[in-house]
Amino acid sequence: MSCSSSPFLLSFFLSLSALTLLITATKAKVPAIVVFGDSSVDSGNNNVISTLLKSNFQPYGRDFFGGQPTGRFCNGRIPPDFISEAFGLKPAIPAYLDPAYNITDFATGVCFASAGTGYDNATSKVLNVIPLWKELEYYKEYRRQLRAYVGKKKANKVLREALYLMSLGTNDFLENYYTFPTRRSQFSVRQYQDFLLELGENFLRQLHGLGVRKLSITGLPPMGCLPLERATNIMGQNDCVPEYNNVASEFNRKLEGLVVKLNKELTGMRMVSAPSYDIFYQIITKPSQFGFEETEVACCSTGTFEMSYLCSQYNPFTCSDANKYVFWMLFIQLKKLTKSSPTILFLLF
Ligand SMILES: *[C@@H]1O[C@H](CO)[C@@H](O)[C@H](O)[C@H]1NC(C)=O
Ligand SMILES: *[C@@H]1O[C@H](CO)[C@@H](O)[C@H](O)[C@H]1NC(C)=O
Repeated sequence: MSCSSSPFLLSFFLSLSALTLLITATKAKVPAIVVFGDSSVDSGNNNVISTLLKSNFQPYGRDFFGGQPTGRFCNGRIPPDFISEAFGLKPAIPAYLDPAYNITDFATGVCFASAGTGYDNATSKVLNVIPLWKELEYYKEYRRQLRAYVGKKKANKVLREALYLMSLGTNDFLENYYTFPTRRSQFSVRQYQDFLLELGENFLRQLHGLGVRKLSITGLPPMGCLPLERATNIMGQNDCVPEYNNVASEFNRKLEGLVVKLNKELTGMRMVSAPSYDIFYQIITKPSQFGFEETEVACCSTGTFEMSYLCSQYNPFTCSDANKYVFWMLFIQLKKLTKSSPTILFLLF
């Protein structure tokens, strides 16, 4: 989902029960932000691995600091960057594998995410990206480095009080389940949801075992409304694909259940699931209320099939004013962000 935005109504979301928890989390001091997930939150790890799924070239990053492409799948910054800034930390979270950074930088924020990955090992194999278990291995390595750098006691405090962000799952369905026959021959789509959530639960329990306490996990966006899905929905006149949206909302409901369960079961755990589906759906169905004009196609190239290398500055179809487009590539893009909206960002992300 999201290379995405927010100058909209805080009050609109005030009824959300998650908000109480979020506000509690927001007021507490956060010494670092640690990120796991896919392209919605990858700040450049794919640059240094051998995958075709990269974005370290123009026009990506054209609205980033200095117009630099960084490996973010976005024209500008991505949600974790804004969240980090909102907590008074760095304005951009460095990618763990980026050789330009070291533990000095990672001490206040680090990203292990990899575009194209998912909960399922098989998903990360599709485009040869970093599987979730490997993100966890990198996190363990990071913990050792942090302890060596600031001392054990201080490191443990940072790791315990840090805010952890986790965002993935879309690729498991779109890149894997609905694209290749293997998982479909093993699981019905409901069973596959449960399989993914089992993997998620396992991951979250491991994080808790390592001392993680504050975590925001993002469910699925209305993935039937992503440009590629609409473009291929010929029978449905390029409307959103209802089945994908239903699968996403159902998954999100199950995820919320899991979060409630784990908060009860795991001592000291304060997890929230960000209800991004509803917010994205609002933006997609009422774009003008949020200052967007185009929702059906993306800014990149023709805005339908292109990702990664095909989203190029040399492609004559790439739009000139990304601000009018809800989607930059396959994902929602972030418009201007005000400092006053960390909560919304949190929710969005
Ligand atoms: C990290 O990199 C900076 C600048 O490149 C360097 O000054 C610093 O010593 C490095 N820190 C560690 C712990 O390696
Ligand atoms: C995913 O792969 C890792 C590494 O090979 C393995 O340890 C793990 O058990 C796998 N997970 C599942 C659910 O198969």
